Amino acid sequence: MKGIVFTELMEMVEDRFGIEMVDRIIQPKELVSKGIFTSVGTYPFSDLVSILGHLSQATGASIPDLEKVFGQYLAGRFSKMYLPFFQRVNTVFELLDEVDSYIHIEVMKLYPDAELPQFETVRKADNMIEMIYRSQRKMFPFAEGLIDASAHYFQQKVKIQVLEWNSDGAEVRFLVDELA
Ligand code: HEM
Repeated sequence: MKGIVFTELMEMVEDRFGIEMVDRIIQPKELVSKGIFTSVGTYPFSDLVSILGHLSQATGASIPDLEKVFGQYLAGRFSKMYLPFFQRVNTVFELLDEVDSYIHIEVMKLYPDAELPQFETVRKADNMIEMIYRSQRKMFPFAEGLIDASAHYFQQKVKIQVLEWNSDGAEVRFLVDELA
């Protein structure tokens, strides 16, 4: 996992729960990174799992819910940090079409050791897109949060349904409907 994911998560936690919460959920002994992150560094996914686990215990929120909230937060940050990706397109559906075919390819050029999911999109109707997520990291609630907040960026209201997932969440089919 790229350090930007960790540094942004720490920002969000500090923002919403205060700096004490950051200290509580970082258990340096458990972490390969020892809890020291730079945005361009790379750290094991297991460190993210550990941090989210402690955040869940400390707040009472489930890990999927925390991932979703973090996805929403990060979409807001990406829309500022990587504005050109959002400015190339006019709708959230166009953005979702480009995640796999353009955005994450550019991300890979910036961070050659990034571990990215795979997406497939199919336009089902003018107001409907299907998006299939595949990743061994099983971060589909995070993807859901990113989709939701990206729609918000384009001032579109969407309903996101998780239609199917394989037993462990490594493959998930989303149906995204634009609401009138
Ligand atoms: C400007 C837009 C975007 C940028 C700059 C971006 C960049 C990134 C980066 C840097 C990572 C971390 C890779 C790593 O840790 O090795 C990542 C992961 C991820 N991205 Fe994106 N992304 C963008 C948009 C999106 C959107 C719209 C979605 C959802 C549809 C998405 C879904 C994901 C997911 C689910 C992961 C977690 C890794 C996994 O599940 O395997 N991204 N992205």
